[in-house]
Amino acid sequence: MKLFIDDADIDAIRYLTEYYPIDGVTTNPSILAKTKRDPRETLKQIRSVIGEERTIFVQAVAADYEGMINDAHMIMDLLGKNTVVKIPSVPVGFKAIAALKKEGIPTCGTAVYTAMQGYLAAKAGASYVAPYVNRIENMGYDGIQVVREIQDILDACGYDCQVLAASFKNSRQVKELAAYGIDNVTCSADIIKGFAKNAAIDGAVEDFISDFQALTGVTSMTDLK
Ligand code: E4P
Repeated sequence: MKLFIDDADIDAIRYLTEYYPIDGVTTNPSILAKTKRDPRETLKQIRSVIGEERTIFVQAVAADYEGMINDAHMIMDLLGKNTVVKIPSVPVGFKAIAALKKEGIPTCGTAVYTAMQGYLAAKAGASYVAPYVNRIENMGYDGIQVVREIQDILDACGYDCQVLAASFKNSRQVKELAAYGIDNVTCSADIIKGFAKNAAIDGAVEDFISDFQALTGVTSMTDLK
């Protein structure tokens, strides 16, 4: 399962990219707004931190068809290869997704709340569909189940499209989708850090080092005399 950082905090992206097995970064207009900077500068900086080989997802903001297409071209020109344009999964978005596919521009149908909405984005030609797990759960529905249903539809219909599950509140939601074989998830920096963060883990690692030090007087194999 590929793991993306759903964040535009450059320091967090730099840290996670250095230490964690990260496949790229996803953004949306609200995430970019939190930086209070020119979004083009933020996006170029993210590209520079993650390198050319990792993928960045950037959303077209315009609400009309021509605007979405123009935004997509601008995003691709700004960020180069391994860039995916997020397009809202609404009727005008389905039209834009189909047109961009013809141009060879990969898209992610975003803002997905229902399984059949995911089906439409995939059928229109999106390379990814992004269901919003926690936002669905906040509405009183089962977000995990919606993602599973979309995965089942993609498999059954044979669309060349992957799920990019998004909007998580905790590790458990991510774990359930990993166990189901979902291809991609995107999580905030804090949720990713939470995968391997608790006092028991830290305590176990500290105990190994202090036991070794009690035996040898040093804290690494290479320092052995
Ligand atoms: C990603 O595509 C979404 O924009 C994002 O994950 C939404 O997350 P939120 O519900 O935490 O805002």
